[in-house]
Amino acid sequence: MSTSTKVKKTFFCQNCGAQASKWVGKCTSCNEWNTYVEEIIQKDTKNSRLQVFSSNKNGSAKSNTSILLNEVGTADYPRIAVPGKELTRVLGGGIVPGSLVLFGGEPGIGKSTLMLQLTLRLKNLKVLYVSGEESEQQIKMRADRIGITTNTCFILQETNTQNIFQQITEIQPQLVVIDSIQTIHTSYIDSSPGSVSQVRECAAEFLRFAKETNTPVFMIGHITKEGSLAGPKVLEHMVDTVLQFEGDRNHIYRLLRCTKNRFGSTNEMGIYEMNGDGLREVLNPSEILITDRDTPTSGVAIAATLEGNRPMLIETQALVSSAAYGTPQRSSTGFDLRRLSMLLAVLEKRCGFKLGIKDVFINIAGGIRVEDPGIDLALVCAVLSSSEDIPIPQSICFSGEVGLTGEIRPVNKIEQRVSEAEKLGFKKIIISSHNLKGLQKKSFTIEIVAASKIEEVFGLIFG
Ligand code: TYD
Ligand code: MG
Repeated sequence: MSTSTKVKKTFFCQNCGAQASKWVGKCTSCNEWNTYVEEIIQKDTKNSRLQVFSSNKNGSAKSNTSILLNEVGTADYPRIAVPGKELTRVLGGGIVPGSLVLFGGEPGIGKSTLMLQLTLRLKNLKVLYVSGEESEQQIKMRADRIGITTNTCFILQETNTQNIFQQITEIQPQLVVIDSIQTIHTSYIDSSPGSVSQVRECAAEFLRFAKETNTPVFMIGHITKEGSLAGPKVLEHMVDTVLQFEGDRNHIYRLLRCTKNRFGSTNEMGIYEMNGDGLREVLNPSEILITDRDTPTSGVAIAATLEGNRPMLIETQALVSSAAYGTPQRSSTGFDLRRLSMLLAVLEKRCGFKLGIKDVFINIAGGIRVEDPGIDLALVCAVLSSSEDIPIPQSICFSGEVGLTGEIRPVNKIEQRVSEAEKLGFKKIIISSHNLKGLQKKSFTIEIVAASKIEEVFGLIFG
């Protein structure tokens, strides 16, 4: 056997991508149990990694020299404009040339659809859409469904990176989409596609390609049951931007979040609606997330929340009923279950509501998951409203975080929330009294009511 083909094996944690020379039961870096799997890595033969796209002899495209920080040009990254306000905002203004973007989401959520839609709409850009999952016909069928035609989008069904780079050299695309990174493999590593070492190596090859040719690359990645990007966390470290597509598959709304962005803020969020002909942007989320009712119903409260920099009014629903079986149930859609337990405990301890013997079900309308703690107050009021079977007037909305002592804590960007509520025709908004400072009450026509304890709010709405 020649030395150049010596086989090297290493153990990888399938959860976080950590490496170990022998099998271990518990990963020392992410503390997960039983996640180590042996993977075979073909030992590099000399020069085997000379990239297809590298432009000089020593294997790296640019040989950099050091430069004074002060002399570095501060010119903005000239961004590639993308169609659609939502994506533009989430990306921080467009696609940065040479950036590597990881686009994650659960299977069937609409990642391929969004990416295909993006490539089809980029009419003056030559795009290569590489699919390792679907055939050309399947992609064509989807494109027909979306109903956009273009003659600048190339489709490639291929899973080997070397072949992909060959095609790239031929076509010279200005944007590359990889669907998905888990199906792609490189010949330099022996382990199977989707394994940690493969995913990492392939991503590294695309990273090198992106940086050396200044071509942006979008990589689609699947998400594990636990909600993290499948396989290695290390992918998140390598890429410039991480986008997440989430939502409830049974609902039509999808949220596009940015969890990492080297070229912009991670606060932004976009909302899409999955229709029969692809994804449509939702520009006025508040209007669709609130149901118009003729008669007020108990167990419903409207929260003035903020996602990123975008104010949104969302309907929270609660159902409180006597526990049918011994152990009361708590179930929540779109809201953290542990936080719900905490809020129920606060209600029990501070306000004397006996919720410990009740089933409590929570639902955030539209199947949207909200992270803003400012939704607490509305949720608490929805629970109380259902528990007492008294409807909350439809013209009232809430914005405040609830603390362990039952105090109502202030939320950020209160002006934006209040003006959004006003815009949507609400007559009254209940906020934390700590938020009153600096708030120009007079500049709003909506009535602003401040409270510092939950008990006070209860008196305010139920009289
Ligand atoms: P897809 O983009 O294939 O999801 P992913 O790549 O994240 O796995 O989307 C799959 C779902 O979207 C599928 O269940 C059908 C639905 N869909 C629509 O409702 N309308 C459409 O126009 C398209 C293209 C898909
Ligand atoms: Mg797909």
